Amino acid sequence: MSGRRTVAVVGGGIIGLAIASELVSRGAEVTVFDPDPGGSDGAWHVAAGMLAPGGESAHEYPHLTRLLEASNALWPEFAASLGDVGYDDAGTLGVALTADDVADSMREWRHQKLDPLTGSQLRDREPALSPRVRAGVFAPTETQVDPRKVVAALRAGLAGRIAAKRVDVLSDVDADVTVVAAGCGTAALTGLPIRPVKGQVLRLRGEPGLLRHVIHGSADGRPVYLVPRADGEVVVGATQEERTDRAITVGGVHDLLRAALDLVPGLAEHEITEITVGHRPGTPDNAPILGHVDDIRRTVVAAGHHRNGVLLAPITARLVADLVLTGSAPALLDDFTPGRFGCA
Ligand code: GLY
Repeated sequence: MSGRRTVAVVGGGIIGLAIASELVSRGAEVTVFDPDPGGSDGAWHVAAGMLAPGGESAHEYPHLTRLLEASNALWPEFAASLGDVGYDDAGTLGVALTADDVADSMREWRHQKLDPLTGSQLRDREPALSPRVRAGVFAPTETQVDPRKVVAALRAGLAGRIAAKRVDVLSDVDADVTVVAAGCGTAALTGLPIRPVKGQVLRLRGEPGLLRHVIHGSADGRPVYLVPRADGEVVVGATQEERTDRAITVGGVHDLLRAALDLVPGLAEHEITEITVGHRPGTPDNAPILGHVDDIRRTVVAAGHHRNGVLLAPITARLVADLVLTGSAPALLDDFTPGRFGCA
């Protein structure tokens, strides 16, 4: 026996893999349990990969801001450690189509401490924006990455440490510490209040170069984001529905396409290549649950990242690794304990 700490990570999505990778880099003996290690059944597969610490309604969850910003600061180094994962720091344009959209967006822009730009100032930066776009902001620190490439790189780095096994009961797992990072599946394993929040997402393809920035905004009250990749793909998201089904709906697709075309009419020539449905793991306060769920400190939960799973992967990995290896929680985790919901 090497005497190294053995850690089981239940869940092979972006959070579980990032935690496992961090633990391995710090010398732990790690096994990731995932029923389908090469599969695509996870919120990461649907996610567009916006890294938006201010633009994902952060003003509604002020206690999350510090965690979001800390993770955003880690992304350049985290991405570089993984190779080419499509990390792109061109920044985001927050945009509003109508006067009502401008009024609704102001609170978010103020929270981000960004100066409003006129429609023509926005079009100077992004000529494909519709002449009808009235106002917006440039958020230089809101970037993007391709979550599918991130997961592929993390899996490759963990080759030989991912077991194709479904865990139904935590007591079946034999390790010094078990980390439960099973997204929505964490609820059944731990009893924690994590619910699925449905999102429908489209992938379009056209000539590369139509858009340079991530576009995040609203058009006639319809929220939408457009995440352009270097190869001509544009990810259009996303609905947010308190539903558990996986149906692709006429209303969902219509609202996304209508908002996308209102903001960027040139997308009309793009091909629709994919429509996917996923479920974000939401919690009662829509912040993640990060901490021990037993008195003997052998089970740690890292789940419930809701709209920010991709953004929060690096900070979650770092803080959860600290918790696993030292047994005590870093101060940044104080607001995110399972105990806030009356558990453990
Ligand atoms: N972060 C984007 C979404 O959850 O739709």
